Amino acid sequence: MPAFTATAPGKMILAGEHAVVYGQPAIAFPLREIRARVIIEPRIKQSPDAVIFDAQDVGVTGLSDSLAPDQAFNRILQVFQEHFNLPHIPGCLIRISSTIPMASGMGSGAAVSAAMFRALAGFTGKGISDQEVSDLTFEIEKNFHGNPSGIDNTVVSFQRPIYYVKNHPLETLHLNKSFTFVLADTGIRSSTRIAVEGVRERWEKSLTLYNGYFAEIGRMVHLIRESLANGDESAVGVCMNQDHELLQKIGVSNQALDTLVNESIKEKAYGAKLIGSGLGGSIAALVAPEIAESVSKKLKKAGAVWTLTSTF
Ligand code: PMV
Repeated sequence: MPAFTATAPGKMILAGEHAVVYGQPAIAFPLREIRARVIIEPRIKQSPDAVIFDAQDVGVTGLSDSLAPDQAFNRILQVFQEHFNLPHIPGCLIRISSTIPMASGMGSGAAVSAAMFRALAGFTGKGISDQEVSDLTFEIEKNFHGNPSGIDNTVVSFQRPIYYVKNHPLETLHLNKSFTFVLADTGIRSSTRIAVEGVRERWEKSLTLYNGYFAEIGRMVHLIRESLANGDESAVGVCMNQDHELLQKIGVSNQALDTLVNESIKEKAYGAKLIGSGLGGSIAALVAPEIAESVSKKLKKAGAVWTLTSTF
C-alpha cells in the first residue's frame, strides 16, 4: 500500500454568507494559494494496525484510539468507513498540515476534511468523486458548525468559483476576465457556530427585518454575478460594500473588520467586505492588480496580521 497525498484549497465567500443559510444564493471562490495537505503513510513495522495522527499545527499527535471518538479526525475516519463500508482503516500514519489560517473565514476546517477524505480514498484504493468528497465533508461540517449551508464543503471539494444555493445543484461561475483580491486577517479567531447561532437568535426575534436583510444580500449576490460576467469591477466593488453594510446590520462585523474594510476603500479598492462568518476572521478587498501590494502593506499597518493576494 503506497503513501498517498491529497490537498484541498481555502475558500473566500465573495458575497452571500449568513443569508445562504436561509436559502439565499452566495458566491464563493477557492483560494488555491493556501491549502490543507494530508499525507498517509502505511505502517509496516511498528504497530501495524494502529492509526496515528500527526497534526502539529493543531496540537494533535498520537494514536487515533487515544482520542475521543467524536474528535474531529476520528469523526472523519468513522464517516469514511461508514460511507465505504470498511470495517477498519489499515495501520497508517496520517500527517495533517495546512497553510490556511484557522478560524479566519477561509475554510480551514472544510479543507482539512476534504483533503483527508481524498487521501483516505487514495490510500484504501477507493474511487471518490468531488460530490462524494463534498457530501462527506458536509457531514463533518454539521458536527462542528451546527447548521451549515453547505457552501464551504462545496467550494473546497469542487475547487472552482461557484454560485451556490442551499439544496440546489452547484453552478460553476465562468469568469471571462481576472479579478484580484487582497485578503487580510484581523488575527481575531472566531467561531462559525457562535456567529451563525447569534444571527439565528436575532432572526427569530425580528423575522421581517432579518428576512429583508437576507433578501437584500441575495440581491447583491445576483448583481455581483452579473457584474462578474460583464467584467465590471467597479460594480462588483459597490455591491461588496453594500453587502458589508448588511453584514454589519445582522451583527457579524466588528471594529477590527470595519477598520480593514474602511482602510481598503481609502486605498482605492473597488470595494471590500468581511468574508465568512465574521466577528473576527478576515476581509477581502477587490483591487486593480497594480495596487494590490500597496493595499496589502496599508492593511498590515492598519492591524492585519496576515494578507494574501489572490487572482481569479
Ligand atoms: O466561517 P466560515 O468561513 O466557515 O463561513 C461560514 C459561512 C456562513 O454562511 C456564515 C455559514 C454557512 O454555513 O454558510
